[in-house]
Amino acid sequence: MRIIVIGFGVIGQNFTKLLLSKSVDLYNQYGMKPRIVACVDSKGSVINQSGIDLKKLLDIKKNRQTVGEYNLHQTQQDVLQIIESVDAEVVLELTPTNLENGEPGLSHIITAMKSGKNVITVNKGPLSVAFPSLIELAKFNGIFFRFSGTVGGGTPILEFAKRCLKGDRIVSFRGILNGTTNYILSKMEERLSFTEALKDAQIRGYAETAPALDIEGLDAAAKLVIMSNWLMDMKVTLEDVERIGISKVTTNDVIDSEKRGNSIKLIASCENKNLIVKPLEVSKLDPICVNGTLNAVTFSLEYSGEQTIIGRGAGGIETASAVLRDMIEIRENIVTV
Ligand code: HSE
Repeated sequence: MRIIVIGFGVIGQNFTKLLLSKSVDLYNQYGMKPRIVACVDSKGSVINQSGIDLKKLLDIKKNRQTVGEYNLHQTQQDVLQIIESVDAEVVLELTPTNLENGEPGLSHIITAMKSGKNVITVNKGPLSVAFPSLIELAKFNGIFFRFSGTVGGGTPILEFAKRCLKGDRIVSFRGILNGTTNYILSKMEERLSFTEALKDAQIRGYAETAPALDIEGLDAAAKLVIMSNWLMDMKVTLEDVERIGISKVTTNDVIDSEKRGNSIKLIASCENKNLIVKPLEVSKLDPICVNGTLNAVTFSLEYSGEQTIIGRGAGGIETASAVLRDMIEIRENIVTV
């Protein structure tokens, strides 16, 4: 399986580390021999149709800051041209999230789909501005489009709801969809200030490149949009979400809520087709009242009642594991088709 990687930040590098450490398992369990044939970051690119040396790629990125230094005489190439012209089965779109117009990720995904390549992304931007049309474009071009890592980090929230709940109907859902704000609110319970907690989350690599995306509830809203489109058959964008972030939550608010046996959590909900993200007091006994970077979602179902899925919602290696999961699934689909 040949892969083009667009965006080589924390997740791209962790995904590459996973390919290196799991190469024997991937072959033995799934018959897969993945090869990265092109890799692009914000400053350069490298192409090798017979497979890039992954260890060298990681070293170059670490020591020289760009994969463009992989070859001595690398010529700068246009990203869209690389996506179109390099032979590959899968394009991984891992550039930073832009919730305003989804770019440049949106163009990368559209170009990949139009050139008949399967697409995996963890980029919430393109999905929150153009979800229905991307799904249609994928169908029209007969390719697989997977985006497990856009919601829940490594936790298969989308797959759980889409596949494990078949035959039942999701009436509504609510939960914690942003790891960074949950980490900050949890740390505030331990009496860290908002600023200290945010800094800590940034150092640990949980926060978005622009931390306002987390703090102002935009990241949670984008995930809510993705879930509502994919699981509830709604056709919505970020503008349909009523949103309040956590920037006004004080340590005193957190302490007061604790006295009532509650915690303040940034809750995203989809109820009666209303999409809301806002800080709410949640009983410490509620299964969605999880701490740190954990995400938790309770689905209310027509027949089987409430079901909650909990897991790590942020982190490079966690999200890279979702990318790998998507890749294995695409491979299984390609082989059985
Ligand atoms: N910044 C995001 C979060 C990363 O904290 O949840 C995972 O989508």
